[in-house]
Amino acid sequence: MKGTIVNCLERLVADRFGKEVWLKVLDNAGVSRQAIFLALADVPDEIVLNLVNGVCKELNIGMKEAADAFGDYWVNEYASKMYANFFRGVSNAKEFLLKMDKIHTTVTKTLSNASPPKFSYRWADEKTLLMRYDSERNLIHFFQGLVKGVGKYYGEDLVMTMRTPNEMEIQFQY
Ligand code: HEM
Repeated sequence: MKGTIVNCLERLVADRFGKEVWLKVLDNAGVSRQAIFLALADVPDEIVLNLVNGVCKELNIGMKEAADAFGDYWVNEYASKMYANFFRGVSNAKEFLLKMDKIHTTVTKTLSNASPPKFSYRWADEKTLLMRYDSERNLIHFFQGLVKGVGKYYGEDLVMTMRTPNEMEIQFQY
């Protein structure tokens, strides 16, 4: 996975819980405290998952809670600054989520070895979107946490229900 994911995780942990906690997470995952994760570089998925597991252990939280915290931080603190251009001109959660497939292709298309998640969309009715997530990584908790983060960013009360293991029904208020 791209280094940008690890950078975001590091900022989340360091900002909210202190740099020492992140350094312990690195130690537990067997990663050098001096390691530098370049945003566009490839970090083996196994290392990313070890780091996420390390965060869970250090903070005594489960994967679902960690994924919610990550999704919130990614959208509301990290991507909204780092990838501000993708947020420009988008005024609600519906529009933003509908751009996700395109954004993931765009952001990774010039990078070697990237395997971005795929998103596909169907409408149950005009307020109800079925958003399907496909990825060999199957990080379903992260998918859920990220969609929640989008709801928070746009100040919307999204009602989310998993209809199949990888298809989420999202009800908008409008
Ligand atoms: C502007 C906002 C966003 C940007 C720039 C972005 C970019 C990225 C990048 C660069 C990766 C790593 C891909 C790789 O290493 O192959 C990634 C992974 C991922 N993104 Fe996003 N993302 C954004 C928002 C979202 C949102 C809102 C969702 C949920 C709907 C989402 C779902 C995921 C998931 C689940 C992964 C993990 C990789 C996988 O499942 O295979 N992202 N994203």
